[in-house]
Amino acid sequence: MNERQIINRLAEMLEYERLQHSIRVMESARSLARLHHTDEDKAAIAGLLHDCAKGFSGSELIERSKEYGIELDQISLCQRGLIHGPLGARVANDIFGIEDMDILSAIEYHTYGKKDMGFLEMIVYLADLIEPARTFEGVDELRDLASEDLQGAMLKALDNTIKRVIARGGLIHPNTLEARNSIIINKSNL
Ligand SMILES: [Fe+2]
Ligand SMILES: [Fe+2]
Repeated sequence: MNERQIINRLAEMLEYERLQHSIRVMESARSLARLHHTDEDKAAIAGLLHDCAKGFSGSELIERSKEYGIELDQISLCQRGLIHGPLGARVANDIFGIEDMDILSAIEYHTYGKKDMGFLEMIVYLADLIEPARTFEGVDELRDLASEDLQGAMLKALDNTIKRVIARGGLIHPNTLEARNSIIINKSNL
């Protein structure tokens, strides 16, 4: 499928606003990839498809995960908003025919991160947060940082997420902690 075909199919699966967000994330991911000398086409497709499983209801997320043989951990079962990452990777493969493992991995981990994230994974995670319609406090600083230092921006984004989740009494996914810790370890080894 080319970009236009993907957008047309996504339009059948996502609400209008979610589709517009996906298109903005595609453009932000493409820009970040250009700045950081990463494959722009892969970044664009991963950005476009990152929320392809976001249109499913809570029970559909569970049902479809079962169908694809995804093992859901307890935290994902409690916070079902996390499931559209791993499920999205399967849907991107099954419905959109994406076979590139870098793209699928960037989709899979855009909700909770993972240890030792690669460039494409960081780009999609950050593009989701800094796309032009995002307005949270500190977003401009995060945009500037993401254009200069991907790992620094990821650390900031993960710290923000962890603090926000703790403030509302939520569960921190272990992947998010591992993502944060691995950046600090990698930076100190430079
Ligand atoms: Fe998402
Ligand atoms: Fe998103």
